[in-house]
Amino acid sequence: MDILKVLENRYSTKQFDQSKKLDKGQLQVIEQLLQKSPSSTNIQPWHFLITTTDEGKKRVAKGAQDFYAFNESKILNASAVIVFATQIDPTRMHLEDVLNQEASDGRFIQAETKEQTRAVRELFANMHKLDHKDYQHWAEKQVYLNLGQFLLGVATLGLDAIAMEGVNLKVIDEEFSLRDKGFTTSVVVAVGYHEKHDFNKNLPKSRLPITKVIEYVDGE
Ligand SMILES: Cc1cc2nc3c(=O)[nH]c(=O)nc-3n(C[C@H](O)[C@H](O)[C@H](O)COP(=O)(O)O)c2cc1C
Repeated sequence: MDILKVLENRYSTKQFDQSKKLDKGQLQVIEQLLQKSPSSTNIQPWHFLITTTDEGKKRVAKGAQDFYAFNESKILNASAVIVFATQIDPTRMHLEDVLNQEASDGRFIQAETKEQTRAVRELFANMHKLDHKDYQHWAEKQVYLNLGQFLLGVATLGLDAIAMEGVNLKVIDEEFSLRDKGFTTSVVVAVGYHEKHDFNKNLPKSRLPITKVIEYVDGE
């Protein structure tokens, strides 16, 4: 696979072909992309809702009405829609779940490593929660890292996608009782195949020049 070609070809799809579905294998890779993203201290402060049904998409599209109506058809016509939700609070149970998972995955060769890992993760989680008072902001950075990996990952599968911040986050939270589960919506991603008249497909990619955004530095 040529990563440069993938980077060039991926684009934000504005019109999806609603007749195309994802197969089980593609959905399984999508699950893996979401699950395997790195996050600071491996805290994994996220939850994902995936829908491939018309009914499920309609529920997500309740968050794309009125001011956000420009995103409605993308949600309704895509093959799969994923709600990326961020953890509101680093609960003790979540921290234990992560630690126990690492233990059962064989991460702790020496017994004391488990306690060290617990201490480091709690230190960072509590620092953000209590000292900086920005746990949710920090957690959302991890979710956006997952998002970046996800957008590139689905492009490697030959799928089209678009990330959408233009949704009513509160409406989606309420529709799926996300806050009751300890999460809040950050961004919605639609995945599928572009419709052949999608105006955005053939527009040239536009980015600021490398010479403007990247600077090599040395010891001088
Ligand atoms: C976090 C994020 C949120 C975005 N939200 C929307 C959105 O709500 N609606 C939309 O049409 N495009 C949305 N976009 C698409 C961007 O406008 C697009 O990524 C950018 O213009 C670069 O173009 P490209 O993705 O085609 O390379 C979003 C992109 C990102 C990364």
